Amino acid sequence: MAQPTPARPDRDWWRSAVIYQVYVRSFADGDGDGTGDLAGVRARLPYLADLGIDALWFTPWYLSPLKDGGYDVADYRTIDPAFGTLAEAEKLIAEARDLGIRTIVDIVPNHVSDQHPWFRAALAGGPERELFHFRPGRGDHGELPPNDWRSEFGGPAWSRLPDGGWYLHLFAPEQPDLNWSHPAVRQEHEDILRFWFERGVAGVRVDSAALLVKDPRLPDFVEGRDRHPYVDRDELHDIYRSWRTVADAYGGIFVGEVWLPDTERFTRYLRPDELHTAFNFSFLTCPWDARRLRASIDETLTRHAPVGAPATWVLCNHDVTRTVTRYGREHTAFDFATKAFGTPTDLALGTRRARAAALLSLALPGSVYVYQGEELGLPEADIPRDRVQDPMYFRSGGTDPGRDGCRVPLPWAAEAPYAGFGSRVEPWLPQPADWPGYAADRQARDPGSMLSLYRAALRIRRATSGFGDTPLTWLPAPDDVLAFAGADGLICVVNFGDAPARLPAHSRSLLVSGPLDDRGRLPRDTAAWLRA
Ligand code: NOJ
Repeated sequence: MAQPTPARPDRDWWRSAVIYQVYVRSFADGDGDGTGDLAGVRARLPYLADLGIDALWFTPWYLSPLKDGGYDVADYRTIDPAFGTLAEAEKLIAEARDLGIRTIVDIVPNHVSDQHPWFRAALAGGPERELFHFRPGRGDHGELPPNDWRSEFGGPAWSRLPDGGWYLHLFAPEQPDLNWSHPAVRQEHEDILRFWFERGVAGVRVDSAALLVKDPRLPDFVEGRDRHPYVDRDELHDIYRSWRTVADAYGGIFVGEVWLPDTERFTRYLRPDELHTAFNFSFLTCPWDARRLRASIDETLTRHAPVGAPATWVLCNHDVTRTVTRYGREHTAFDFATKAFGTPTDLALGTRRARAAALLSLALPGSVYVYQGEELGLPEADIPRDRVQDPMYFRSGGTDPGRDGCRVPLPWAAEAPYAGFGSRVEPWLPQPADWPGYAADRQARDPGSMLSLYRAALRIRRATSGFGDTPLTWLPAPDDVLAFAGADGLICVVNFGDAPARLPAHSRSLLVSGPLDDRGRLPRDTAAWLRA
């Protein structure tokens, strides 16, 4: 096994980091009960160190009824007993740090669980009602929701209580939205940030970061109106400026979950006194197409430059269709609205493209996110309808397959029960029959595997300096080929077209995502890393 590399000492580690997303529930099961946990993660830290990542982002691990996979938090200062204890989280943070890996936690400021003490007190009629959005209904008897907002998971964004009043939830009914114009809400979240920074975390992901502030009049949504009643309100920037002073006191960083099609509005969150970084969803949703990807890369870099923030490159996460599946379909863009059961998929094609996409994203200037299982080339799993857990499926009336297909427990060992996930009972989501074929132990022995490709790419990336801020230079290439030079003279070439592509002049070939043809040319859906 490779020697662990010490954590990059520099303050700017986050500008070029490779950050691995851990969906705790499905990473590894340490106590055998069918659910992943912190013990499972601790046992796999050597694997993560060997993979060569710089940081871990943990999706919420706090006390939660798990009505939305932990994004319904009942207490930020307690680890859910299904995952472990606070003492264990502290150990995990320290052990990871000893292996050169920093920790990022996930904070969900837009809403809490309906089991959070604040909401329970609000329901009991306490002054905590002001911390949420309670309103009387419309209609003669208050039987209609207070406005026409829709939940992100489908259905109205309002639920009615037995006393006849309504409360706002942009997500599931079990996730009431907080009232961010109340000072106690701001105070509490800054305390939560301090709580976790004091426990040694290096960064915080900010869930639904553009949704916190609502127009206080809670007006109906009117298409084309200047300002959206709850997306990207200007008042948000003031909140993040205040958060930034908290993070700066600890040297901590933020990554915002900001879904905004307008990239100029998007980079406003990344001004020097606001969030450090935000997920690049325009890249994630882009189809597998040279022209479209080049435009997305150019726009990303052009927009980030004036605010001085590094770009991030993301291909998938726990909310979207897994990369090898998406790229193996007729429509290779990602869009929540078009997800459907039974979409035909060519996994061999998708895997070839995902390998090339890995080398593409890891060569671009900025930081890169890798979602657990992406390094194993896991496809989106088909979850039998009677096993689905995701509220997106239920709130869509069963038309949207939901997000469980990308959240299936990982395969670690081909020969072990439940593909080595660690469970003695059936894991919380069923694993497909072919899961052992993707197991990490099998891939570790196969130089042609996705895991070996990721390991090799990350090894080269760690040995190359300047990934955060070296500008990208496009090299001459046919329209359906992307070729650019970046950090330390590393050249990346990706061929999207039918015709094999000639490689640009280079001194050394470092890594290819698939074999070259017999004349040394790059075939379709293949990428190469070269040294100039
Ligand atoms: C974004 C998270 O990534 C997603 O999983 C969650 O359902 C929503 N925010 C609501 O918290």
